[in-house]
Amino acid sequence: MNGENRLNQKAFALKQGAIRAMFDKARTMENVISMGIGEPDLDTPAPIIEAAKEALSSGYTHYTPNAGLPMLREAVSKYGLPVSGMYAPHEIMITNGAMNALHLLMSILIEPGDHIMIQNPQWLNYAAQIKYCGGVAVKLPTDPEKGFYLDPQTIRDNFVPGKTKALLINSPNNPTGHVLTRKNLEEIAQVACELDLLVISDEVYNTLIFEDAEAVSISTFPGMRDRTVVVNSLSKAYAMCGWRVGYAAGPEALIDRMAKCQENFISGVNAAAQYAATYALEHRELTEGLREVFRERREVAIAELKKIPGIKFSEPKGAFYMFPDISSFGLDSKTFCDRLLEEAHVVCVPGSAFGSVGEGFIRMAYTAKTEDIVEAIRRIREFCAKL
Ligand SMILES: Cc1ncc(COP(=O)(O)O)c(C=O)c1O
Repeated sequence: MNGENRLNQKAFALKQGAIRAMFDKARTMENVISMGIGEPDLDTPAPIIEAAKEALSSGYTHYTPNAGLPMLREAVSKYGLPVSGMYAPHEIMITNGAMNALHLLMSILIEPGDHIMIQNPQWLNYAAQIKYCGGVAVKLPTDPEKGFYLDPQTIRDNFVPGKTKALLINSPNNPTGHVLTRKNLEEIAQVACELDLLVISDEVYNTLIFEDAEAVSISTFPGMRDRTVVVNSLSKAYAMCGWRVGYAAGPEALIDRMAKCQENFISGVNAAAQYAATYALEHRELTEGLREVFRERREVAIAELKKIPGIKFSEPKGAFYMFPDISSFGLDSKTFCDRLLEEAHVVCVPGSAFGSVGEGFIRMAYTAKTEDIVEAIRRIREFCAKL
């Protein structure tokens, strides 16, 4: 490729993720139903769009402070944290989605060769960001038989003094849809205190919680507030993925350096989007409609999936993902998904893309319309029957 010889090694090594590759292939085909997309298919609630229009016509067309508009940092402090006011506005930074918050954190924390511990399986982008920033993603196996439980002993066993910089956890989880229990989080918090570990808690799905599950933040356990950076965003909660507004809340020194880093590369987040995000956070009730839509779809998806002999799954209680076990069909998850796309025109993502523990599973996002979910799972049933 022209110019490739000019790239540095890090850029040269950048690869297209498995999810994008599936989409590219699907785009060339007809009559495809996607259960591959980690984004609400619904549009942003109209009042938030109105707020953005108002912002543009009233002068929100300028640079904002690097850490974000003061009114949005205040709204996050009041309405966007696990407990209102638990981090003050100066301990909060507004970012281009949660991804930008995570990248800034990796940029300010990692020295070459440092370790960041993550769950296995886990969202692809963590490992890519850690690697790009010179670190090593240490993937902690979780137990699929116990709802992807993270054994605190695994954290102890993988901790390397002087090298392990942080533990990054995500609950409700992408790709599994599982929610870490209060008890599991409490155990993790105890180990974090014991090992003097910084914890990054990615809570982007914390409004999408079903049945008896609780969205507990590890930051709320004793000794954790000052060793946790909470990362969140408006993308999933308000169907605002394209607006790119997220935030990080945590120890002031970290937030301060993240903002300084932002100043040199990105400057800040789109001003009108920040204004609209302030409106959104001040109207938390807007997240409820979305949760209702996903509650309904989740029930339909579970009922349909149960009709497929050979598929095993425990019912996930968060986010908008299911992570069924397809190992009984004798195909690895990539071959299963490739063939599913080619033969049944349904996009699912191979579990192996999310880590070795994901092998034997596929990720199904119920982000399509209910009738499409029913049809997609019917096609999967037919496909499985042929195997
Ligand atoms: C676990 C997790 N964290 C963060 C993000 C990114 O969110 P944002 O759109 O706020 O950057 C995603 C998106 O899929 C995700 O699944």
